[in-house]
Amino acid sequence: MQNRIHSMLLGTGAAVPQKKLTNQDLEKIVDTNDQWIVERTGIKERHIIDGKTTNSDLAAEAALIALEDANLKPEDIDRIIVATVTGDFNFPSVACLVQDKIGAVNAAGFDVQAACSGFIFGLSIADGLICSGTAKNILVIGSEVLSKITDWKDRSTCVLFGDAAGAAVVGPANGDGRGILATFLKTDGRLADLLNMPGGGTKYPPEVSVKENLNNIKMQGPEVFKAAVTAMGDAAKHILSEADITSEEVDLLIPHQANKRIIDATARRVKLPSEKVYINLQNYGNTSAASIPVALNEARREGLLRAGDVCVLVAFGGGLTWGSAAIRI
Ligand code: UT7
Repeated sequence: MQNRIHSMLLGTGAAVPQKKLTNQDLEKIVDTNDQWIVERTGIKERHIIDGKTTNSDLAAEAALIALEDANLKPEDIDRIIVATVTGDFNFPSVACLVQDKIGAVNAAGFDVQAACSGFIFGLSIADGLICSGTAKNILVIGSEVLSKITDWKDRSTCVLFGDAAGAAVVGPANGDGRGILATFLKTDGRLADLLNMPGGGTKYPPEVSVKENLNNIKMQGPEVFKAAVTAMGDAAKHILSEADITSEEVDLLIPHQANKRIIDATARRVKLPSEKVYINLQNYGNTSAASIPVALNEARREGLLRAGDVCVLVAFGGGLTWGSAAIRI
């Protein structure tokens, strides 16, 4: 095992907008109710960004907190990887904007687009860069402002999403057995139509996108639900085998926070009791690429993850994409 460990978590941080939108608030916007949302998803409230703050503002705030936690300065960072589907612009990347905002003058930054699985994709890239000796200290950020691409007239999606950013600093492992034990990534582009935002890219010109209401999230919920249950369960099982650990050795599972029923099904697949599963979606909704780093940061700060504990991350999202990671904290 030991010789497979190349990188470790050095620090984490998160930033969440102040404004909350509760299920009761949503009852005034669309034909929904608190009972339906809680029973079908587990979500009670989500945070929504104000008109002035941008994705890169949130990402930079989370990054600075993670850097402080890692006891590093912005100049110490040599790569910035931002996982997002809601960047400030089509280009430049959020990573370049974050670089400027935090003063990471020695870094090279780029964005990763793997929807809700993006943070694990970024973590896997960071692990590889550190393993190859190409980079030393890497900021991996998941940052989303999904409220900007939510169709507030569509009750089947608008109750689900929220805004947030989470960040982790990853650096070389120190040889004590702690670090990223394994990562696993998968995509299936044949199912791209199940969850997407058709507008905003180059296929549909802006005037068509606006006229045909294509600039927001479209999801075939029940089909995505079924795919998520299968893929997240498979990814969780796969990473235990890849990292050569048993369920009993896992201290905490941090799943993507989309739906409590999906999380419960994933935990059952790897036989983990509920006390070993971190859930905070009641407070944030589905924040896509931000959900895992926000939860990871909270779990660490709540004392649920101590040095030497084994944590498993598992995610699923549009693309379709899914993946997992096992980390000895
Ligand atoms: O993060 C990336 C991955 N995303 C996910 O993992 C999300 C996966 N999907 C889901 O979590 C679930 O499919 C949803 C939460 C989106 C929907 O739950 P569901 O149990 O699959 O409900 P449904 O879409 O089958 O709809 C059931 C009923 C329908 O009414 P009828 O046709 O049975 O009369 C819907 O019109 O619930 C109705 N409905 C609502 N009712 C009240 C749909 N949305 C709402 C709503 N409030 N907000």
